[in-house]
Amino acid sequence: MSGFKYPPTADRIKGLLQAGRFIRNPISIIDQTVVDYGTTYTFYMGGMQKAVLTTDPEAARHVLQKNHKAYEKSVIVTDILGKYVGHGLLTATGEYWLRQRRLIQPGFHKRKIESLVTLMQTEVDRCMDRWKDKAANPFDAYAEMNQLTFRIVASALFSTSLEEHGLMQLSQLISTLQSFIIREVRQPYKRWWFKISGRIRKHLDMAEGARDIIREVIRERRKEANKPDDLLTMLLESVYEDTGEGMDDEQLIDECLILFVAGHETSANALSWAIYLLGKHRDELEKIQQSGPEEKKTRIRNVVLETMRLYPPGWVVDRISLQEDQVLDYHLPKDTLWMIYIRGMHRNPAYWKSPDQFVPDRWNDESLDRKAYMPFGAGPRLCIGEHFAMMEMELILSAVLTRWDIELLTAVVHEQPLVTLRPEEEVLIAISARDVQTLNDE
Ligand code: HEM
Repeated sequence: MSGFKYPPTADRIKGLLQAGRFIRNPISIIDQTVVDYGTTYTFYMGGMQKAVLTTDPEAARHVLQKNHKAYEKSVIVTDILGKYVGHGLLTATGEYWLRQRRLIQPGFHKRKIESLVTLMQTEVDRCMDRWKDKAANPFDAYAEMNQLTFRIVASALFSTSLEEHGLMQLSQLISTLQSFIIREVRQPYKRWWFKISGRIRKHLDMAEGARDIIREVIRERRKEANKPDDLLTMLLESVYEDTGEGMDDEQLIDECLILFVAGHETSANALSWAIYLLGKHRDELEKIQQSGPEEKKTRIRNVVLETMRLYPPGWVVDRISLQEDQVLDYHLPKDTLWMIYIRGMHRNPAYWKSPDQFVPDRWNDESLDRKAYMPFGAGPRLCIGEHFAMMEMELILSAVLTRWDIELLTAVVHEQPLVTLRPEEEVLIAISARDVQTLNDE
């Protein structure tokens, strides 16, 4: 239909020729296309589906926030992810999502999350104690951060209700599932093969295995008279406003599984990038280690914010329009697929000075315009775990930097943009214990 006005369209033939490279590493191609066509452009996804990509904060806020009712999450992630992790906050849409969000949101209120600090700190301390045995040999910071953030979600959800064996099993199952989900998202043309070769079935069975572990924890918890103060108790005790009833076991399992999936790899990525950046910028590392408690807190927070600016774990957020809509100067039809390229927005030179440089101190500037900063998304589907993640990342970085001197051994780590923005290579570090006297002074 005529009457629609699309943003400039990227060369379709060139896009097709670059398809192989795009699957391996979309970031360099997207960045170049932004330079060539501007901050909002039209392209053909996989050469077929017409889509719009933006790094413009105004367009992003329009889609995610101002006119969010006219948009829905696209099926790319929700259907594939939902097939394995169930129907919950991250994957649900429409009325069901809104009902779940209203039910669960109060449990993630900042003050509620602060009550989890002791559980979190215990896991962090255990990890730092394990590092004593690791100090002799270099190790991959990403693997460690992934394990630690998984344990933190497990402990915040279940306290000590899941014993070590179950925890390891669950972690293994979720990690294998996540790897397979990524393959399904990235290689849609192989889906027929995954199906007939039985690989989809095998992974669905694994998802069932993960659900069984969580089901058992829930059954036991329901029987307990004195329930611990953790997220599972909160989920069990929350009731829908209209019916006054709570979630059934299958709904609870969906939400728990989703909190595991949404809540550990994202933080692990940000922490690994932070360690990488501090390893590269030793002056920033030393500034933190030499500062007093208050200044140290601010510096660590700035490092977390700046790391997520450069390497936002949720590097792209997608939506599909449910009706035609006017965005910026463009008039676009129903079913337009939007890719909100958060990483590009965070490096958009119209909003950031030295956009590609790691400058944690920029966050001290009170006049800093933050409208082009959305690591946790925007609008009603803003990350529910924002306060959880910030508290967790600050606790972990603080413990790591207080107890250890870090030397980065991997010269360059590239970005691997999967569902989240992972480090492609190992983030190899060597650690040595810091002077006990220094620790006491801090
Ligand atoms: C650095 C850490 C994290 C980052 C960067 C991050 C980023 C995001 C982003 C960008 C979204 C919005 C996606 C969209 O609009 O399509 C999101 C949603 C979500 N996140 Fe996070 N997240 C982080 C940590 C966590 C944690 C720790 C949890 C839970 C403990 C969590 C749970 C969720 C859930 C459940 C949603 C879906 C919310 C909804 O749609 O109602 N996230 N996250």
